[in-house]
Amino acid sequence: MKVLGIESSCDETACAIVEDGKKIISNVVATQIPFHEVYKGVVPEIASRKHAEWILPVVKQALKEANLTLEEIDAIAATNRPGLMGSLLVGLTFGKTLAWACNKPFIAINHMLGHLYSAHLENNIAYPYIGLLVSGGHSIIAKVNGFDNLEILGTTIDDSVGEAFDKVAKFYGLGYPGGVVIDKLAQKGDSKSFSFPVAKIDKREGHRYDMSFSGLKTAVIHQAELFLNEGYEKTNENICAAFQETAVKTLTSRLFKAIEDTGLKTVVAGGGVAANSRLRAILAERKDLNCIFPPLKLCGDNGAMIAGVAYHFLKRGERSTWDTTACARIPQFKRGLKNLEDFGRR
Ligand code: KG4
Ligand code: ZN
Repeated sequence: MKVLGIESSCDETACAIVEDGKKIISNVVATQIPFHEVYKGVVPEIASRKHAEWILPVVKQALKEANLTLEEIDAIAATNRPGLMGSLLVGLTFGKTLAWACNKPFIAINHMLGHLYSAHLENNIAYPYIGLLVSGGHSIIAKVNGFDNLEILGTTIDDSVGEAFDKVAKFYGLGYPGGVVIDKLAQKGDSKSFSFPVAKIDKREGHRYDMSFSGLKTAVIHQAELFLNEGYEKTNENICAAFQETAVKTLTSRLFKAIEDTGLKTVVAGGGVAANSRLRAILAERKDLNCIFPPLKLCGDNGAMIAGVAYHFLKRGERSTWDTTACARIPQFKRGLKNLEDFGRR
């Protein structure tokens, strides 16, 4: 089954064709970074306009690179949740229209299930495992029982980890997207130059695996000098190294607790922050675990992860109705509710 997957939830206009949930035949990602860079963050209005401009050429390019015609595509999938509303609507509406016009099955996909599936494109991974979903919008630790079955164990109670990287980079004028720049600068800095705080909310009842990044972000932005260790220089490299170390420690401290409590030994990461070199290094040190990361090119937003996970819904006979709409937020991902209902699914 050849599935054409469309992704437009944030600032990448992307389309890929994937066969049987595994074989990437083509994968086109048109990044809007140069248009948002000057504003040091994603401007939703610009993002949706660029998606509207680029969606047709990107889909055409994916077909061309796959050397396939639309007739040879078996089904169409598009991200419909969560993300920027105006951006989601472009890819979703385009995908639905294409499927309707060509009389193909259509399925709307949850972006975070796509991120989790990225690692499955190149690996055969058995369920259950612990999923670590870390992106610009979310930070989630889940027990993953199947491609669409996540028991959310912990989430951030405020900013996502990617957001913290982006805001710190913005404040220090380091560039956009922040994660990539900070990761690079941190490699030249000393992580012991500052000792930023890891928020202790995991001690509260019902928050064992939850995380907080807003306090860390504020400490790094406004109070860096208070946390300066003696004898160190306050350089961007040192600030980045210490911030990154604390952000990664916040994630791994909760992740390791989830691993201990569940007894699961496999960890699968996904999302833009899964590209982080320090996170990868710390998990690589845990020789007792099987830590699986997607290749760097599949950590960020792409259509292959959407087409890949869509295959499994379609194989099960699921279809989305034409009135399926976009959904900017999935409340339980944000607020740490343990309700598994997948908001926005139709
Ligand atoms: O998954 P993604 O491309 O889009 C969302 O779904 O949000 O994630 C984007 C996020 C941004 O916050 C970006 O700064 C972060 O991923 N990111 C990184 C790295 N590369 C991208 N964060 C830390 N280290 C990186 N190497
Ligand atoms: Zn994403």
